[in-house]
Amino acid sequence: MTKCLVTGGAGFIGSHIIENLLNLGHEVVCLDNFDAYYSPQLKGKNIEPFMKNAHFKLVEGDIRDKALLNQTLDGVEYVFHEAAQAGVRISVEAPMKPHEINATGTLNLLESVLDSDVRKVINASSSSVYGRVEYLPFDEDHPNQPVSPYGVSKLLAEHYCRVFEELYGLKSVSLRYFTVYGPRMRPDLAINIFTKAALKNEPITIFGDGEKTRDFTYVDDIVRANLICMEKGSGVYNIGAGNSISINDLARKIIEINESKSEIVYSDSVKGDAEHTLASSEKALKELAWNPEITVEEGLERYAKWMSNFQS
Ligand SMILES: NC(=O)c1ccc[n+]([C@@H]2O[C@H](COP(=O)([O-])OP(=O)(O)OC[C@H]3O[C@@H](n4cnc5c(N)ncnc54)[C@H](O)[C@@H]3O)[C@@H](O)[C@H]2O)c1
Repeated sequence: MTKCLVTGGAGFIGSHIIENLLNLGHEVVCLDNFDAYYSPQLKGKNIEPFMKNAHFKLVEGDIRDKALLNQTLDGVEYVFHEAAQAGVRISVEAPMKPHEINATGTLNLLESVLDSDVRKVINASSSSVYGRVEYLPFDEDHPNQPVSPYGVSKLLAEHYCRVFEELYGLKSVSLRYFTVYGPRMRPDLAINIFTKAALKNEPITIFGDGEKTRDFTYVDDIVRANLICMEKGSGVYNIGAGNSISINDLARKIIEINESKSEIVYSDSVKGDAEHTLASSEKALKELAWNPEITVEEGLERYAKWMSNFQS
């Protein structure tokens, strides 16, 4: 049995990683401060099913607390680093918090990891590190011109991981997730907001003209990439479905899947949102033997099913 730490484990992606690690028979420590960015009650619900598992331990606290990290890392072999101030828009309104958690918090974690027996850090990065589009799909050599403070903070975290490997030999990998969705997803993300509106036949609001495109990636594919990285991989990898659709098409698909009468309405566009994202995951295929398995159609169906059970 391998002991793993999942930072931000009470959040959306972290809770899926924990579920899979426990199913594989690993021991898991979840470190989360239940940040109020969105409902701490929802985060409590995310991890409720694990609380009775003898192989699961919750540590409530902050990745910026070094003393706590040093205790928490005792016996840990792999760190899945999901804790972050996620969200592009909030970072435009208040850039300091994402910097403090995502950049300084990651640096703090890496420093603590140096004094531990951790074999590898698997760092959650983001397609936001690309920002301004020079060509599509993004491969890992595409220039990094983030267009939001969030993207800058995630790029800094990646660089800290790289430099810690080069200077101190700490093994790490940074996975650049492309817009993740699925059960328990963050309430601030479009698929969640659109599906909730569709189920109530309420209007679906799109910011801007809806022609921005996104590469939506189902959470199970993201988790699989994380697990593979316990054994393989170093440096950065795109982890994306490799198919982009416009926000207009996304809203239409969600209306159709949920047999909804919702109408689409438009509001002012939001600063900091990238124009387009689309992953080339060729490097992940070659080096990790990872391939996305879930199409957006299948993922949206699964999500709609989950959401209607969750709400009833
Ligand atoms: N969801 C996506 O579409 C997406 C896309 C790209 C990258 N990511 C990255 O994936 C990771 C997980 O994202 P998510 O969507 O699950 O977000 P989330 O907000 O659901 O999860 C993050 C968790 O981190 C915790 N946290 C925040 N600050 C903390 C701190 N200082 N100390 C300890 N815990 C703290 C939060 O309470 C939360 O439970 C993040 O690093 C995010 O940047 C997410």
